[in-house]
Amino acid sequence: MNVADAVKERFSVRAYLDKPLSKDTIYKLLDIVRLAPSGHNTQPWEVAVVMGQTKKRLTEKLTEAVKSRVERKYDYTYGSKDVPDFIKARRNACNVKVFEHKKIDPKVDKDKLQEHILENFRFFDAPAALILMRDKRLGEEAFVDIGIFAQTLMLTALEFGLATCPQTSVAAYAPIIHEQLNIPDEKMIVMTLSLGYPDMDSYINKLRMDRERVEDFTVFYE
Ligand SMILES: Cc1cc2nc3c(=O)[nH]c(=O)nc-3n(C[C@H](O)[C@H](O)[C@H](O)COP(=O)(O)O)c2cc1C
Repeated sequence: MNVADAVKERFSVRAYLDKPLSKDTIYKLLDIVRLAPSGHNTQPWEVAVVMGQTKKRLTEKLTEAVKSRVERKYDYTYGSKDVPDFIKARRNACNVKVFEHKKIDPKVDKDKLQEHILENFRFFDAPAALILMRDKRLGEEAFVDIGIFAQTLMLTALEFGLATCPQTSVAAYAPIIHEQLNIPDEKMIVMTLSLGYPDMDSYINKLRMDRERVEDFTVFYE
């Protein structure tokens, strides 16, 4: 698969086949992803690969926390009180599109909404959850490196017939992830990625999101 095709074909996959994913395959994937660039070649990414019984236990704890409305706590500042309107509009359009596709009226269908939220914490039943971390002592610039690493991972995964869903929702329960996986305090849980073989026949995986045109975000200085 060429790179342009990979970029065009990738999408956030939210249903996976019940097909085992081996540690060896994930290792081979990461052995390519580690070539991602980073500022001063610092390679600040750290990855926890969570599978099997550990993933089951983590999912149970996260689900329990969501259901009992445990306060969300990221390891970093998430969101802003000052989000500009054009971004709010895109965020809103994203939510509307997802809820329309899933036929959920979030104001009325409270049970469906809860289930929609909880799918994240089961990692959409993917066989593996990858937790991407960085050291808390680094500056904000390390987020750039983690983002590049994440996209490199998502694109390379396609080469293995694998699919991903990037998630920051799960990172909202950072204390539980630290506790369950024994992750030291100085590590920052940035995001997670569900990883597995996509169920391309599932209804949710028919969803495709829109994008702005080049003209809408680019200025050429000539
Ligand atoms: C940093 C980041 C965090 C995201 N968090 C979530 C999440 O918690 N749950 C989810 O279902 N999708 C999540 N997404 C997926 C986005 O909704 C998705 O990338 C966007 O709507 C574009 O759709 P596409 O990835 O299918 O092209 C996240 C994506 C990114 C890049």
